[in-house]
Amino acid sequence: MRPVTLITGASAGIGRALAHVFAQHGHELFLIARRGQRLAELADAIAAQGHKRPLTLVLDLMRADAVERIRDALAKADAEPEFVVNNAGFGLFGAADVLDLREQLAMVDLNVRVLTELSLAFVALLQRRRGGILNVASVAGFLPGPGMAVYYASKAYVVSFSEALHRELKPRGVRVTVLCPGPVPTEFQGRAGVRGESFPRLITQTAEQVAQEGYRGLMAGRRLVIPGFANKLVTFLLRLTPRQLALAGVEARQRIRRP
Ligand SMILES: NC(=O)c1ccc[n+]([C@@H]2O[C@H](COP(=O)([O-])OP(=O)(O)OC[C@H]3O[C@@H](n4cnc5c(N)ncnc54)[C@H](OP(=O)(O)O)[C@@H]3O)[C@@H](O)[C@H]2O)c1
Repeated sequence: MRPVTLITGASAGIGRALAHVFAQHGHELFLIARRGQRLAELADAIAAQGHKRPLTLVLDLMRADAVERIRDALAKADAEPEFVVNNAGFGLFGAADVLDLREQLAMVDLNVRVLTELSLAFVALLQRRRGGILNVASVAGFLPGPGMAVYYASKAYVVSFSEALHRELKPRGVRVTVLCPGPVPTEFQGRAGVRGESFPRLITQTAEQVAQEGYRGLMAGRRLVIPGFANKLVTFLLRLTPRQLALAGVEARQRIRRP
C-alpha cells in the first residue's frame, strides 16, 4: 500500500494551496472535491512540476456514504492515508434566523460531522505510519460570531475537538494540528454571501502563506497554528477581552460586511 495525504476541498483556495505544499515536500496526494475538472487541472499542474500525479476523487462529502466511497477509492488505488487534511468547509453570512435553516444544517454537517468522521476513520493507519491530521478551523473558532453565528460555532467545535484529539493521539505517535487562519481571499467569501469585501490588510494572508504555516506546524507536531503575527496577536488579545466587548466588536464588523 502506498502512503498518501488525503486533502478535502482541494479544488480551490486553501485546500489547493495545501495540495501544492504537500506535493512540494514529496507527499503523494489523494484529493477530494465535487468539481472534477478543477481537481484534474490541479493534478496536471502538480505533475507538470515533476511531482507524482495526485489521485483524485470527485465526491460530495455530505453524502452519507462518503467515507465508504473514500475507503473504496483508496483500496482500488492500493493506497492508504498517512496524513488526513480536513479542509473542506463553508460559511454563511447573515442572521441565523433569516438564513435558510437547511443550508445552515448542511454547514454543520460538512464543517463538523464530516470533519469528525474523517478525523477518526483512519487513526490506526495514521498510527502505523506515524502520520497525522490537519484540521482547518479559523480565528472565528475563538469567539462567538453574531452575523455568522453557526459558522463561528462550527469552527469553535473544530478547535475544541482537534485540541483534545491532539492530546489523545500524541502518546500513539499521531500528530493532530488545528490550523486557524484569519481572512484569506478565496471563493469562501462569495459562497458565504459577502460581496465586494475589502480585507483588513494587517490580518489578511494568502492561501499559500496559510498552507505553508499549516504544513510546518503539522510536521512539527504543534497543537495549534495561527498563521501570521497579527492574527496571533489578535487571538491573544481576544482572550483578555471581556466577552461582551468581543461580541459587540464582531457584530460591528459583520455589519460593515453586509452586502
Ligand atoms: N477564506 C477564509 O477567509 C477562511 C478563513 C479561515 C478559515 N477558512 C476555512 O478554510 C477552509 C477552506 O476554505 P477556503 O477559503 O479555501 O474556501 P473555498 O475557496 O470556498 O474552498 C472550499 C473547498 O471546499 C470544497 N467543498 C465544499 N463543499 C464540499 C462538499 N460538500 N464536498 C466536497 N468538497 C466540498 C470546495 O470544492 P467543490 O466546490 O469543488 O466541492 C472547495 O475546494 C474552510 O474550512 C474554511 O472554513 C477560510
